[in-house]
Amino acid sequence: AANSSKAGKTRNILEKMEESNKNCVVFYGSQTGTAEDYASRLAKEGKSRYGLETMVADLEDYDYENLDSFPEDKIAMFVLATYGEGEPTDNAVDFYEFITGESPSFSNESEPPLGNLKFVAFGLGNNTYEHYNSMVRDVTKALEKLGATKIGAAGEGDDGAGTMEEDFLAWKDPMWVDLAEKMGLEEREAVYEPVFAITEREGLTKDSPEVYLGEPNKMHLEGASKGPYNAHNPYIAPIAESREIFTVKDRNCLHMEIDISGSNLSYQTGDHVAVWPTNAGREVDRFLKVTGLLPKRDTVVGVKALDPTAKVPFPTPTTYDAIVRYHMEIGAPVSRQFLATLAPFAPTEAAKAEMAKLGSDKDYFHEKISNQYLNIAQVLQAVAGDEKWTSIPFSAFIEGVNKVQPRYYSISSSSLVQKKKISVTAIVESMHIPGREDALKGVTTNYLLALKQKQNGDPSPDPHGLTYDITGPRNKYDGVHVPVHVRHSNFKLPSDPSKPIIMVGPGTGVAPFRAFVQERAQQAKNGENVGRTLLFFGCRKSTEDFLYSDEWETYKKDLGDKFELITAFSRETPGKKVYVQHRLSERAKEVNELLQQKAYFYVCGDAANMAREVNTILGKIIAEQRGIPETKAEDIVKGMRSANQYQVSSLN
Ligand code: 2AM
Repeated sequence: AANSSKAGKTRNILEKMEESNKNCVVFYGSQTGTAEDYASRLAKEGKSRYGLETMVADLEDYDYENLDSFPEDKIAMFVLATYGEGEPTDNAVDFYEFITGESPSFSNESEPPLGNLKFVAFGLGNNTYEHYNSMVRDVTKALEKLGATKIGAAGEGDDGAGTMEEDFLAWKDPMWVDLAEKMGLEEREAVYEPVFAITEREGLTKDSPEVYLGEPNKMHLEGASKGPYNAHNPYIAPIAESREIFTVKDRNCLHMEIDISGSNLSYQTGDHVAVWPTNAGREVDRFLKVTGLLPKRDTVVGVKALDPTAKVPFPTPTTYDAIVRYHMEIGAPVSRQFLATLAPFAPTEAAKAEMAKLGSDKDYFHEKISNQYLNIAQVLQAVAGDEKWTSIPFSAFIEGVNKVQPRYYSISSSSLVQKKKISVTAIVESMHIPGREDALKGVTTNYLLALKQKQNGDPSPDPHGLTYDITGPRNKYDGVHVPVHVRHSNFKLPSDPSKPIIMVGPGTGVAPFRAFVQERAQQAKNGENVGRTLLFFGCRKSTEDFLYSDEWETYKKDLGDKFELITAFSRETPGKKVYVQHRLSERAKEVNELLQQKAYFYVCGDAANMAREVNTILGKIIAEQRGIPETKAEDIVKGMRSANQYQVSSLN
C-alpha cells in the first residue's frame, strides 16, 4: 500500500508508536467487531497489569513494508478473525496478501527480514468451516518464516463450539506470563485508568443543533448525507414495504423491501445488506437506571480520548441516552473479564465480592451469567439489587461495552428483477432460557419488527414491550426508515445461467436462494437458457414456517421443470425429523449427476450442524454413486470447496 492517507494521519506504525511513546501495538483484523474488542482488551490489560504502553491499530490504517525495522524491545500483537471460507476480514486483506506473499518487499534488506520482530497472536474462527482459523495460522507461519519470534502459543478461539470467550481467557494468561518473562515486565496490581474524559457541557441541550442524538456522522447531523455509503456512513433508507410471512407464538418472519433508489447504492444478487440497529428502549432504560444516569439521560456530554491513539467510537457532543441507545452493544452477553474490571466500583462490599467471584470463577460465571445470556445491566441489577452503580466511570463502559455493529443479512431479492429495492427476510424469535424470567430477544430483528409495526400501523405495536425509539434522528423523515449499507459477497450464481445449481437452505437460509431462483426465473423469461435449478428447503411444518410457499409456484411457471423445490418438514411426522440432508440422500443419483456436470452447490443457514452434516452427506453420496472410497470422495468435496464450486454462507 502506498503512503497515502488522510491528512495528518501517518500510515507509518513505527513513527506512530515513537511519537506516542508506545512499546506495544495490538493489530486487529475484524469483521464484526469481536476481534477489535479482544484487541482493546489485550491493550488495556497490558497497560493496567504490566505497565506496557499499548495502542490498538486497525490493520487497514497502516503500511507493513517497514515491519523489518520494528524495534527489538517492542512487541506486536495480532488479533485476527478468519472470515467465511478462510478469508481475511475486509480490513486485513492487504496485510494478509503482503505478509503471506511470495517475497514481501520490505524497506531494508536485513536477513531474515523480521529478525527483530517479537509477536503474539490470537485467532478467531469457527470450526464448522473448512479453513478453521486459517488467518492466524497462515499469518503466524508467514511471520515466523520471515524470521519473527512468536511469544507464547498462537491462540485459537472457536465460535463454532461457542467457546470463543473462554478460549481467549485461557490463552491470554500464560501468554502474559511468557511475555513478561521475555520482555522483563513486572506484574502489578491492576489499576484502572480511564481512556476517555467525559465532560458535561452545560451550555448545550439536546435541542442544540450541534448535538448528536443518534446521527451516524456529521453529514447526517447537518442533514446533508451523501454517498459513498459504507460501514462508516449508512444510508437511511425508506422501507417501501414490510409484512410478516408467518406469525406463530414466539416467532415472526419478516419480509421487508428497502428502497435504495434515493442513493447511489447498488447490489448484486447474493450480496449482503447491513442493518444498523437501535437498542430497545427497555434495555436503554435499564442500563441508565442501574448506572444512576437516568436523571441525566439528556445531559449533553463531550468525550475526549486521553490517549492519542484511542478513538472516541461515536460522534460528540452527544447525550448519555444517545450513546447508550445507538452506539453501545448493551444487549450483548457480558465477558467475565469486564465484570472483574468493574468489581472495584461496586456499590457494596457484598457486590464487590460477588463481581470478583464472577470475574475469576469460570464455572460460577457460566452458571449465573452466561448460561442465562444476561447483558451488562441485567448483571449489575442481579448483583446489587436496587443499589445504583454510580461509581463506575462512564469511560469504563465506553471501553468495555462493544460499539454497536451493523448486522448483515443475505439479500433475498435479485438485482436483475429489482435493481433499486433490497429484500430482507428475517425471523424474529424469542428464546426461553431455563431459569431466566423474561425471554431473550434479538436486538436487530425486534427493531425491524418494530419498524414493520410502525409502518403498517399495526393495532398493537410492540407487543414485546421493548419500546424502540423509532421517531429519533434516524427517522426524522416521512415514512419509516432504516440505516443500511451493502456489502459485496462472493456467494454468487455461476455467470453462465445454463449451468446447473443445487441449493440447500433450511429456514431463513433460503433467503439468498429466493434471490437466485428469482433471478433465474427472470433469465428464463428473457429467453435465456437456464440450467437445472434444485432447491432443498427445510422448515418445521408446511403449514407453519414454509417461507414463500406461494411464490415458488410463480417461479415454476417461468422455469418449468428446470426448477424443483424439494422440502423437508422436520416437525410434521411425530418422532421423525426430516432434514434437508435426508432429502439430498434420497436424490443421490441426480445430485451426483449434476455435480459431474459441474453444478454449483450452495449451502446457507445456521441450523445447528446443518452445514457440516450436508458436507458429510455429499461425500457419502459421491462415494456411493461413483463407487469410490469415502476418503477419496471427501477430497473431491474439498476440491469443490476450494474451487468455489461448493459455496457456504452462514448468513441468513
Ligand atoms: P428442527 O428445529 O425441527 O430440529 C429450519 O430451522 C429447519 O432446519 C427446521 O426444520 C429445523 O428443524 C432444521 N434443522 C435443525 N437442525 C438441523 C440440522 N442439523 N440439519 C438440518 N436441518 C436442521
